[in-house]
Amino acid sequence: MRFVVASLFTAILGLILATAFVTPASAQEAPNVGPKPPVVVKPMESHIGNITGHAAAAKSDYKRYCAGCHGNYGDSNGENAVWLDPKPRDFTIATFKCRSTLTGTLPTDEDLFKNIGRGFTNSNMPIWNTFTKQQRADLVAYIKIFSPRWEREKAGDPIKIPAEPPVTIDSIAHGKALFTKLECWKCHGSHGEGDGPSAATLTDSKDNPIRPYDFAAGKNDSRFKCGNTNEDLYKIFMTGLDGTPMPSFADVIQPNDAWDLVHFLRTLQVKRHSKENEVLSAAHGVIPPYVDKTPAPAAAPTDNKSPGGGN
Ligand code: HEC
Ligand code: HEC
Repeated sequence: MRFVVASLFTAILGLILATAFVTPASAQEAPNVGPKPPVVVKPMESHIGNITGHAAAAKSDYKRYCAGCHGNYGDSNGENAVWLDPKPRDFTIATFKCRSTLTGTLPTDEDLFKNIGRGFTNSNMPIWNTFTKQQRADLVAYIKIFSPRWEREKAGDPIKIPAEPPVTIDSIAHGKALFTKLECWKCHGSHGEGDGPSAATLTDSKDNPIRPYDFAAGKNDSRFKCGNTNEDLYKIFMTGLDGTPMPSFADVIQPNDAWDLVHFLRTLQVKRHSKENEVLSAAHGVIPPYVDKTPAPAAAPTDNKSPGGGN
């Protein structure tokens, strides 16, 4: 009996002590406790081919399959988010990495639809290929309820991509020259291994450290976050990965030159079977120096009419 009383006393004492220690912390967090406001499901839509997605229809799928990471309020504060690197996307700012549209603009519905189905390699974003197309279209509409940008702005126009020219050693050589000139190597490293001089210091727009893509790491099935075709690769550096230090180069690279850069980047994926790597082996693994064969512009004619001209 005395033993029971004693342990009861210890338990109570423990409880008092515990409360004493815990109180200050919980008092600080107090504003966050209590019922949270319900999520307002705005009547957003998405259009994927002839399918129309409706936000309201995705409510339970989002809660069950997405909220654990992206959060009920789409703010990337799901209960699992603390464990994740990179962090889940914050839908309240509507900044997306994989777009067919110019930097700073909203992605198309089709972009988001593909991104959900593809998943993000080198991250915890799963490949959602078990949903029907309708469910995925509904989820695309649901993502739009979290940011007012979707009510104010239209999606950007997809960039125009010319037909891919044949892979040649000259094309690869020109791509290499662009990789050097545009300083891709500063982040990605001269062999594309993600170890350039700036690599260690990079952070994303939420101040989380971020690593440049390592082209050499993947095996034959290596993918990018934004897809695995040559066209996807073209879009990545022409539109940029918004919210990350990976810039858009649409203003500085001519459309056809961009294909040369694509061809060179493929050779950095040393373990991947590709047309580019075949062409490179046929050239004994040597990329020749690039020689600019475009004729120099004709010298501007001298204007004899201007005052003092011709003297
Ligand atoms: C296990 C955690 C997890 C779950 C569950 C999850 N995601 Fe993600 N999601 C992520 C992470 C992490 C990223 C960021 C990946 C990156 O930046 O490389 C992301 C990114 C995204 C993006 C950003 C696309 C872009 O181009 O920037 C979309 C859209 C998205 N998720 C939708 C969804 C939807 C819809 C669901 C539910 C069907 C879902 N996610 C479930 C972790 C998750
Ligand atoms: C300021 C640093 C920086 C520069 C300069 C830079 N990149 Fe990146 N790049 C990054 C970072 C960081 C990532 C990873 C982004 C992520 O994981 O979300 C990346 C990712 C990539 C990816 C992979 C995207 C994917 O979907 O996984 C490609 C391809 C790429 N960069 C190509 C280039 C090319 C080509 C150039 C030059 C024309 C270039 N980068 C210049 C920082 C840079």
